[in-house]
Amino acid sequence: MKNYKIAVIAGDGIGPEVIDEGIKVLNKIATLDGSFQFDFTHFPWGCEYYTKHGKMMVDDGMEQLKAFDAIYLGAVGFPGVPDHISLWDLLLIIRKEFDQYVNIRPIKLLKGAHCPLADVKREDIDMLFIRENTEGEYSGAGDWLFKGKDNEVVLQNGVFSRKGTERIIRYAFETARKEGRSLTSISKANALNYSMVFWDQVFEEVSADYPDVETASYLVDAAAMLMITDPKRFEVVVTSNLFGDILTDVGAALAGGIGLAAGANINPEREFPSMFEPVHGSAPDIAGQGIGNPLASIWSASQMLDYFGYEQYGKLVIDAIEQLLVEDGTLTPDMKGTASTSEVGDRLVDIMTSSITANI
Ligand code: NAI
Ligand code: MG
Repeated sequence: MKNYKIAVIAGDGIGPEVIDEGIKVLNKIATLDGSFQFDFTHFPWGCEYYTKHGKMMVDDGMEQLKAFDAIYLGAVGFPGVPDHISLWDLLLIIRKEFDQYVNIRPIKLLKGAHCPLADVKREDIDMLFIRENTEGEYSGAGDWLFKGKDNEVVLQNGVFSRKGTERIIRYAFETARKEGRSLTSISKANALNYSMVFWDQVFEEVSADYPDVETASYLVDAAAMLMITDPKRFEVVVTSNLFGDILTDVGAALAGGIGLAAGANINPEREFPSMFEPVHGSAPDIAGQGIGNPLASIWSASQMLDYFGYEQYGKLVIDAIEQLLVEDGTLTPDMKGTASTSEVGDRLVDIMTSSITANI
């Protein structure tokens, strides 16, 4: 029996609550299939850990994580621990040190999901964002000089290496080719006269190797507007770390809200484990009440299934989420329902089970 070793960092706030439901779904699929299983190891890292130990994870944490096939992460961050510490000392370290340079965020409006745009056809919102995930504006390079003095100066540098820029763009072209869809690059070369001029140039160069892929290129401000006014223009999209961060939140709003947004951090060479997580944070305002929406973390579990080569099960999970939304009977309060986190997970497992047994 194939055994997948998964490191679980459930994290803070609603992280553990929603991750439990993703695990429920993954275990159910493994049982229904019968040829593989998941072996979950929980790591108690996050802000609570930080308050006790003064660090977000153990010193050899990265060494321990290396042994796993994938990482399943809930959310990190909690009032009392500065956000730049919780983000940098856990999430960003993993993304960077494990060279998870591809961040994949599907923005697909499922049936039954709420879209705030009027007159939009459901099929028109179906984008796949591929965001650079290890450098760019989030490289962490900079300085803070003369802190607190009159002549205080802060530098926050964007770092765009040829290797880093080319590989993310190439990955996006490969994806667009595989899916038979267009590729849109989003940059800002008019104002960012080094980094984004370079980005556009590399996009142009790489596109020569993919004459079969239709391309478009927009400035980020125009892209933000077009995502609202004409979302169907966007199919596969490639962009930098910062722009991708912001635009995928716009995308999340278009495709049913933060309760449905999932993201995969992929190391395509599979030299290190990849990491799967809901896009939302730890939602301290509703933590501990058992009402966090688990659908985003369940969607990210479906990305994990895709990554392991079980695309049929990845799709099964998305179809089950869609059916759950259409039924409109078992949803959490953020989706105007009254169900608890675990009731949503249980209903989803029931839907999956009956659709599998119906197909046998
Ligand atoms: P947030 O995503 O945690 O919450 C924003 C709002 O959306 C809140 O009202 C929350 O209740 C609601 N919400 C979020 N996820 C939900 C879900 N699954 N079900 C129902 N409602 C949900 O963002 P916020 O408040 O800006 O950040 C809170 C903490 O989370 C901060 O410490 C922040 O640094 C951290 N954070 C961590 C992330 C990660 O681990 N990837 C990502 C974003 C924020
Ligand atoms: Mg974000």
